[in-house]
Amino acid sequence: MKKILITGGAGFIGSHVVRLFLAKYPNYEIVNLDKLTYAGNLENLKDVENNPNYRFVKGDIVDEGFVNELFNSNQFDGVVHLAAESHVDRSISNPTEFIKTNVMGTINLLNAARSSWGDDFDNKVFYHISTDEVYGSLGKEGFFVEETPYDPRSPYSSSKASSDHLVRAYFHTYGMPVKISNCSNNYGSHQFPEKLIPLMINNIQHNKPLPVYGEGLNIRDWLWVEDHARAIDVIYHSGELGETYNIGGNNEWTNIDLVKLLCKTMDNKLGRNEGESEKLITYVTDRAGHDMRYAIDASKIKRELGWEPSITFEEGLDNTVGWYLKNSDWLNNVTSGDYQNYYKKQYQD
Ligand code: NAD
Ligand code: TYD
Repeated sequence: MKKILITGGAGFIGSHVVRLFLAKYPNYEIVNLDKLTYAGNLENLKDVENNPNYRFVKGDIVDEGFVNELFNSNQFDGVVHLAAESHVDRSISNPTEFIKTNVMGTINLLNAARSSWGDDFDNKVFYHISTDEVYGSLGKEGFFVEETPYDPRSPYSSSKASSDHLVRAYFHTYGMPVKISNCSNNYGSHQFPEKLIPLMINNIQHNKPLPVYGEGLNIRDWLWVEDHARAIDVIYHSGELGETYNIGGNNEWTNIDLVKLLCKTMDNKLGRNEGESEKLITYVTDRAGHDMRYAIDASKIKRELGWEPSITFEEGLDNTVGWYLKNSDWLNNVTSGDYQNYYKKQYQD
């Protein structure tokens, strides 16, 4: 048996990674370390909670003593690090929390892994999951490649950039067996409805205004979360140590076109008249420092590791909308309490 620590496994992407690793590797014991912040939800893993190869540990990666103790009492063969504060708008209102979790939390994990592994890095992997936002904002042309200089512009992306630099520094300084990937915007089931796609699905369903920032012309490159989880699997097992891999869907959409596509899909699924949901679109004050365009060149991971997206955006979106409509209990549970307060503050609703 190998013992793998997955941090942030109760979140959106992490829960898909936990599920994939448990299904694919019966010889792995998966330890999911998560603080269960507003974004973490054990309901995301209900289907695997009784799997004998799965164990959940509630804890905070910012708590150095706790992290050291966890590594002292477990010999982990690998770490897949996803735990983070992940929402740009929250980073604008509370940047410090992002530095604590994303920077201090990452260095605590690096230090604990290094001290637990000693000098024996044989068959060990510390895999850090990051974002394309560290590269900054593109104009109309061009793509982010692995060599694109870092130019983060939000507190969120700055904190992720900082953690990426630390992970790379531990490779060069201590020979830590690290890997990093930088992925574009994910969508799919179990995403907390503060992010664009589930927020819009939720609002369309409840006939609430659809808050589009600025003119809606910012561009994002969308990837189905299960394809991201597949890429993480491939990189964890076959990626080169010390290397970075960009992951993306080659699937660029302006926000307004994407929201209109969602409206159309929802009109169909809910039996509404064509054009009915679009009437809910409301342009609101732009996000401060709103990055214009993200677009990933994912040719390295395709060339070297043979990964590419497995489904089209239309299929993925249809599947995603279907999941949210079928799982209204999940949506109701996660949108109660804290999220209601956040929503009121963010949208003065
Ligand atoms: P998420 O916000 O849905 O989940 C984050 C998880 O981390 C939650 O379960 C939360 O409880 C946990 N967590 C937060 N602070 C913690 C702490 N101090 N200690 C332990 N656990 C803590 O995020 P996500 O969208 O699933 O993103 C996961 C990772 O992937 C992040 O590192 C993010 O930067 C990166 N990423 C996300 C996207 C995207 O589109 N969502 C794209 C590229 C990269
Ligand atoms: P988001 O899902 O927050 O991801 P990120 O900012 O990390 O790319 O936002 C995606 C895009 O949608 C981004 O350009 C901001 C925009 N957006 C809106 O127009 N309205 C909203 O209510 C939200 C949450 C995002």
